[in-house]
Amino acid sequence: MTNSAQYGLPNNSGDARRDYPAFLDGRVRPMLIGGEWVPSLSGKSFESRNPANGELLATIAEGDSADIDRAVLAARKAFDGPWRTMKPDERQMILLRLADLVERHFDELSLLDTLDMGAPLRHTRGSKRHMVGLLRYFASMAVSLYGQTSSTSLGGELFACTLKEPVGVVGAIVPWNGPLMAAIWKTGPVLATGCTLVLKPAEDASLTPLRFGELLLEAGVPPGVVNIVPGFGATAGAALAAHTGVDKVSFTGSHLTGQQIVRASAGNLKRLSLELGGKSPNIVFADADLEVAASAAATAAFANAGQICSAGTRLFIQRPVFDEVVEAVARAARGLKVGAGLDEQTDIGPLVSRKQLDRVSGYLRAGREEGARALAGGERLDGDAHRNGFFVPPTVFTDIRDDMRIAQEEIFGPVVAAIPFDTLDEVVERANATPYGLGAGVWTRDVGRAHALAPRIRAGSVWVNCYNTMDPSMPFGGYKMSGYGRESGTQQLDDYLNVKALWIRRD
Ligand code: NAI
Ligand code: MG
Repeated sequence: MTNSAQYGLPNNSGDARRDYPAFLDGRVRPMLIGGEWVPSLSGKSFESRNPANGELLATIAEGDSADIDRAVLAARKAFDGPWRTMKPDERQMILLRLADLVERHFDELSLLDTLDMGAPLRHTRGSKRHMVGLLRYFASMAVSLYGQTSSTSLGGELFACTLKEPVGVVGAIVPWNGPLMAAIWKTGPVLATGCTLVLKPAEDASLTPLRFGELLLEAGVPPGVVNIVPGFGATAGAALAAHTGVDKVSFTGSHLTGQQIVRASAGNLKRLSLELGGKSPNIVFADADLEVAASAAATAAFANAGQICSAGTRLFIQRPVFDEVVEAVARAARGLKVGAGLDEQTDIGPLVSRKQLDRVSGYLRAGREEGARALAGGERLDGDAHRNGFFVPPTVFTDIRDDMRIAQEEIFGPVVAAIPFDTLDEVVERANATPYGLGAGVWTRDVGRAHALAPRIRAGSVWVNCYNTMDPSMPFGGYKMSGYGRESGTQQLDDYLNVKALWIRRD
């Protein structure tokens, strides 16, 4: 294996692959079932390609319903086996070792994310503290799960308490926009609560989850506790969502797929957590620190090429400062370097796939046709430097009507709709006027106004004078069609636990 310090440094030898992780060794990457790395039963495989230039990175075993069956059986066996009685502090130790391994291999993991889904190295490397912190937080929670005792109305001869117990076999279906993040967010609570897992990575980004699987085994996760089956949504994903041997599904992705998962869950009424899309408002009042707000608004909309569920995509700016702020955001957009994620100078990488490029290009066209005006960006980049990748420049649209598609629908590209407003009541109503409710930003120096506004926003997170701030201890998730259930915080752990009422007659 090459020295991790070399990772991601494009060299001048013409052989950039020299610095790629040994994980990309040209072998078909197998799937993880029952503690073994195995090929798919069908023998089928699919390709992982770099969205910056189309290069083939790896070939991956393609799981379908027969592989999901095997994996669910392995997860059930593990759940009913020694894992069930393993002491919480032993599960805690596994999580702590896993945190250390992720920390040690972070350069490699972020490079795999960058190669596979396009985000700049600066972006993927930047999440180290949060990723490792999440695992250590879940480790602490493994020994901190509390039930309650109740005095009840019935008095002393009855002892009554609640016990928290793992829900059982969990199926996790995850997207491609933060592959390592998704793997950690789904695995951490499973290990902390004593559940077992079948993880179905996104077909566009399976490499990091598979490498993470190797680290899980190294950390001492017993066979079958975590199984990883790559494959496509319509086959492997649908089989996992419908499987009656699965007690709970945790899904992150689009609301349309979320709806299919709700329908598929009906067979055995499995528990669900759904972390879906958004069209999050970011609201700038005239009294805000405008320079800070404009710079943060650009990051909120364009980070990870806009492929973040809580991206601040509707930028409401109070009318007296509209021109000033929108021009500052457009200037920031024009100053961002769009290019391959491996380039250390890159701010905005390619979109993940041709499908997403077509989708986002469709919205750029729709915006123009509906009468919006692009102050920055607006069209796919296809000059020499960008021709072989899926590049869209950061785009700032003005002349927006609230009913335009670009003001209502999740684009999942680096596109922001800038919209003037006058009063607080008006902006509350317009901010809430989408089917989504994931996040919202508020920029003001008036603390009274911030307090007045926060409870009126129908969204799972409200950030005042900051945006997309995350912490392992704070719940993240949606209102309305952005889903239900939470990631992080004690609230996420509760999503993986059943509550049992225990009654004991004393006499
Ligand atoms: P998607 O929601 O279809 O894919 C997410 C995951 O669901 C993948 O692992 C996929 O294989 C799986 N999946 C797809 N169909 C399934 C089914 N019928 N049953 C079970 N699993 C299934 O999202 P996709 O197609 O990658 O992106 C389309 C749009 O979805 C994006 O443009 C964006 O608007 C939204 N999206 C939102 C995300 C978020 O974090 N909120 C993440 C990814 C996409
Ligand atoms: Mg890829």
